[in-house]
Amino acid sequence: MKKIVNVGIIGFGTVGSGVAKILLSKGKLLEQRSGISLCIKKICDKDFRRKRPVNVPKSLLTKNINDILNDRSIDIVVELMGGIHPAKEVVANAIANGKHVVTANKALLANHGREIFDAAHKKNVFIGFEASVGGGIPIIKALREGLIANKVNAIYGIVNGTSNFVLTRMMDDDLSFSQALRLAQDKGLAERNPRLDIEGIDSAHKLAILALLGFGVNAKPKNIYTEGIKNIDLADIQYGKKWGYALKLLAIAKLVGGKLELRVHPTFIPSRHILANVTGEDNAIFIKGDLIGEALLFGKGAGSFPAASAVISDLVDISRNVDEFSRKVKAEKVYFSGNVKGIEKIENLNTRYYCRLLAIDKPGVLAKISSVFAKKEISIANAYQIERKRGQAVPIVLMTHEAREGSIRRAMEEINKLSFIAKKTVCIRIER
Ligand code: HSE
Repeated sequence: MKKIVNVGIIGFGTVGSGVAKILLSKGKLLEQRSGISLCIKKICDKDFRRKRPVNVPKSLLTKNINDILNDRSIDIVVELMGGIHPAKEVVANAIANGKHVVTANKALLANHGREIFDAAHKKNVFIGFEASVGGGIPIIKALREGLIANKVNAIYGIVNGTSNFVLTRMMDDDLSFSQALRLAQDKGLAERNPRLDIEGIDSAHKLAILALLGFGVNAKPKNIYTEGIKNIDLADIQYGKKWGYALKLLAIAKLVGGKLELRVHPTFIPSRHILANVTGEDNAIFIKGDLIGEALLFGKGAGSFPAASAVISDLVDISRNVDEFSRKVKAEKVYFSGNVKGIEKIENLNTRYYCRLLAIDKPGVLAKISSVFAKKEISIANAYQIERKRGQAVPIVLMTHEAREGSIRRAMEEINKLSFIAKKTVCIRIER
């Protein structure tokens, strides 16, 4: 006998209409596969004038959120409003009313995930949030189920499609940052206000969620070192490319000496690295575990249908655990505290660096620069002066061996003050 589970959708935008479209068009298939009939009881939005790519009966539409929150027949609330307020209050209200919640809201979970998960656990309801990281890529399920026996040592990858698209167009077509961003906006990939994406904030939100799941670390976005791509110069991408590197915006969570490195920044990686070949708006996330070694998940990180695919996976998952008659469930905890000794300061990071200096071309310049590096115990692996223009400013590009970030920062402060340095030096971290 099929089980009927009633769903209320709050937020009828790109993802909400994708969810409605798939539930209406694939309901039978989902029922065959899972034995569950997911029934949309109500869809709430503040405005229904805009045309949506799905036709739903008018009787399902409401502008009153309480038509969902107070409807006792609704088992699962799907929160797709985005933003922190009033989404936080809506989710809290749904939980308090004993409803399971599915959300795609990364900003909300990154900032308040632990309290929401704790409230849900206390109330014995489920929270599904597969769509909050990596769109259609089942990364949350992989961490919570497929890899449950592993101690996770690292999670890293490309989790922002907009930035990856922009960097790919810069690298492949020699576009400037603003040309590539405009192209992303024209294609509907980037928002008119792209701040969250190009400043790395969206990636930091996703990394905060992964840090809680993978390592039990409750890292708020403000505790994650975050640098976006908005100051990337095409010249750096081109120099890096010449020396066999691709530039990617990486989100990195890595256990080092018992502490967790959490950082989002543009990163040079060898062009033969798998992530170097993740191009356009695609996402890809590596997980390193003590049992599996490494696993890679790749796919579309955004878009109506990939996100809807993740939301529906959560709906089916939760429904499987809901007893239709008694409504009883045993909701497990979402996260577990690991033995992580805190978040590592960015100054303690040890990695290689690419530095581009703009220096007046005259004798002794390179000697002076290398003496600053030597004083800070930074070893230079390669150094190249790009052009020859006696008495004028020319770019000098160098790569270091592994060095401490704190030392690099102090060296840069000193170097940027030297009389022959014409512009602030650009530094980009390199990972293998
Ligand atoms: N804006 C995000 C991106 C998608 O560009 O990947 C939503 O998380």
